[in-house]
Amino acid sequence: MRYSSLGPSGIDASIVGFGAWAIGGWMWGGTDERESIRAIHKAIDHGINLIDTAPVYGFGVSEEIVGKAIKDRRDKVVLATKCGLIWHREQGDFYFATDDSHPSKSGGRKVYRCLAPESIRDEVEQSLRRLQTDRIDLLQTHWQESTTPISDTMQALMKLKQEGKIRAIGCSNATPEQMDEYRRAGELDTDQERYSMLDRKHETENLPYVAEHQIAFLAYSPLAQGLLTGKVGPNRVFKEGDQRRNKDLFSVENRRRIKELLGHFQAIADKHNLTMAQLTIAWTVAQHGCTHALVGARRPAQVKENAAAGSVKLSENELMEMQATIDAFADSD
Ligand SMILES: NC(=O)c1ccc[n+]([C@@H]2O[C@H](COP(=O)([O-])OP(=O)(O)OC[C@H]3O[C@@H](n4cnc5c(N)ncnc54)[C@H](OP(=O)(O)O)[C@@H]3O)[C@@H](O)[C@H]2O)c1
Repeated sequence: MRYSSLGPSGIDASIVGFGAWAIGGWMWGGTDERESIRAIHKAIDHGINLIDTAPVYGFGVSEEIVGKAIKDRRDKVVLATKCGLIWHREQGDFYFATDDSHPSKSGGRKVYRCLAPESIRDEVEQSLRRLQTDRIDLLQTHWQESTTPISDTMQALMKLKQEGKIRAIGCSNATPEQMDEYRRAGELDTDQERYSMLDRKHETENLPYVAEHQIAFLAYSPLAQGLLTGKVGPNRVFKEGDQRRNKDLFSVENRRRIKELLGHFQAIADKHNLTMAQLTIAWTVAQHGCTHALVGARRPAQVKENAAAGSVKLSENELMEMQATIDAFADSD
């Protein structure tokens, strides 16, 4: 496993991180706590120290499971969580309504985007309690909102850092202009954005920006939620409540197209003795500006497989060959 600093913070985090959204169950068709804890232990055993969670992942469930899993091995973990999506009060920008399994207009729980200083402080206390720790290594603003000036948010985050409750500051789902605002008011260490072979908009947006300003870039959904592992065949049926069940991305026709795309990479994968999931992760962290890949997983075997990608180095020629194929695939869209 290779490690890289979370931007200027100097905190070394594994370039392959464990994404803890799915283990929260919400939007993923439920959870299995014991299996999730085993998956987290497997991640740590295989060199993954970066764990990324959020209060909203299962409305506390993901953070609670992470807390139980790392309780006796806290020092081996770079613990990243988020703030800014709240459901305990109505403040900020209304975002969506949800039931216990997935967003739904008739759902009883209302989620707001809120980055007001007092709300962030409340959230941090709740996260520390659920995570059973006295410090968060990286706190990220989950989604940006319109009711609080970014300078106020950043001041609150800097204060939490001075108090030792958080060690580094990140944003997510943000624009370069918003990152400018964060940087004017304090020290921004990381940016977390959706990025994969199928979702490359940040190659012309945030990736050049973070590279220029030495901010770490944490790619989320790098496997396109499993599609880029090559293991989602035409017969796979997703459980009720699993967001992938009705997504166009997972239509049988698209599964066929992605299989064809991945087929072009088989020779490179074979040369390095890699699975498609490993090749995809290795490709992601080799892209300009992309320093870490947050890979979601629920099973120990998946985590072991994904962690191994953290020591793979693809050659310039292999990366160029893959780039040409991915460009041609995007043009055929
Ligand atoms: N900041 C944000 O707004 C935001 C948004 C989304 C995600 N994230 C973060 O990024 C993380 C990763 O994103 P993600 O979970 O959406 O998507 P992802 O990492 O692209 O895909 C995760 C899914 O891929 C499947 N998978 C993983 N490893 C596999 C393997 N080796 N073989 C076969 N299948 C495998 C699993 O599906 P099964 O569960 O079906 O096995 C897993 O749940 C999240 O956990 C979260 O920490 C952040």
